[in-house]
Amino acid sequence: MDQLKIEGGRPLKGSIRISGAKNAALPVIAATILTGGWFHINNCPRLRDIDTFLKLLKELGIEVIDGTDDDDRCLEIDSSGLSNHEAAYELVRTMRASVLVLGPLVARMGKARISLPGGCAIGARPIDLHLKGLEKMGARLKLKEGYVEASASRLKGAEIYFDTPTVTGTENLMMAATIAKGASVLKNAAREPEVVTLGEMLNHMGARIRGLGTPTITIEGVNELRPAAWRIIPDRIEAGTYMMAVGAAGGEITINDAHAEHLQAVIAKLKCAGLQIEEAGPNLFIRKKGRLQSVDIKTLPYPGFPTDLQAQMMTLMATAEGLSVITETIFENRFMHVAEIRRLGADIKVEGRSAIVRGVNGLKGAPVMATDLRASASLVLAGLAAKGMTTISRVYHLDRGYEAMEKKLAAAGARIAREKTETPY
Ligand code: EPU
Repeated sequence: MDQLKIEGGRPLKGSIRISGAKNAALPVIAATILTGGWFHINNCPRLRDIDTFLKLLKELGIEVIDGTDDDDRCLEIDSSGLSNHEAAYELVRTMRASVLVLGPLVARMGKARISLPGGCAIGARPIDLHLKGLEKMGARLKLKEGYVEASASRLKGAEIYFDTPTVTGTENLMMAATIAKGASVLKNAAREPEVVTLGEMLNHMGARIRGLGTPTITIEGVNELRPAAWRIIPDRIEAGTYMMAVGAAGGEITINDAHAEHLQAVIAKLKCAGLQIEEAGPNLFIRKKGRLQSVDIKTLPYPGFPTDLQAQMMTLMATAEGLSVITETIFENRFMHVAEIRRLGADIKVEGRSAIVRGVNGLKGAPVMATDLRASASLVLAGLAAKGMTTISRVYHLDRGYEAMEKKLAAAGARIAREKTETPY
């Protein structure tokens, strides 16, 4: 098992390039199920979650060529050989996003058998809204032995209202609706950039989708789609994490290939906290001068402050001047990092859905344990900020969603290294 060792207190300098977005790549790859023929997907991140998803596609009988073009990961995918319609428990339990094959499978094959994802480290995370939507489109659903079995001769368009905006729920039903009979309207749909880029790709494949980026998405079903070439958008969560790394470690860096317009809520809050941020085309220049000031944060669906940056922001607030209230409204249990950041000397108290963070003068290195993907990133930032050595175990969580994080940070001057341990955690 790998662990990360960080010797904190060294300011960052230089530049960091942002990889393709995990949460954009997963639905884009799922969309290849909708029609046979070769798809070309580039700027795909090298991440464990992507590898897991490609493994699932191969189990469905889909051909995948995983290549490189000028250091860029390119995938060639052809689902002409689609022969299986099951996503097994072993894969779904390691990655909930496997549920993204549900909509495309029912739409194309008329059937799907998907293991129900259980709860996870950040909350219960049901998929009831995905299922209700499919049912409205005419799918018959059965729950059997922990699996949901869906079938339909051909899905039909429907008006679907989401009780709460759901990212993968919107993606699943939008994909399913592209080849359903008739029109569908998704109301209170998610507006995240990852949903928009998926919709744009589907339109490029011949789908007829309007209203992307708004709460009402309209889809006119078509009889057939065609394969396409698509480039994965930059990862806004990775970019936000490195902006915050400057807040934690100090110094100044240029972040290349960030998409500033996807980060407006984050940029606004970081500027309020005192970070200097300049937007220059696809790049962002970040500088820290002096101690940060506390700001309050409330996570919200896009364009609000993203839940996927809440833990990292909490690390910044741990050493900012003043008191910060961080409220998590998306997931009910996304404070697992609090106990770990406290081990470095932070003063954080959780009350219900809010964490009250009293900024301290500095953190001190300690051994800590990663509990989920974004919590791991918050611990890396805490390690960069802290005096002395921080050792983070269970970094496999980090590898699910950050490409070569320690290499990118080391190239920007951080003292961070990965090592193998004998212990099984
Ligand atoms: N929800 C329901 N029923 C549903 C679906 C969602 O109650 O059928 C609830 C969830 O429990 C949650 C809220 O709706 O309280 C929003 O969840 P959403 O469905 O939007 O989350 P998701 O689609 O499962 C994606 C990202 C997450 C990110 C969230 C929120 C992917 C593959 N995952 O998850 O990313 O936190 O949206 O923005 O796109 C991560 O990358 O670390 C990560 C967890």
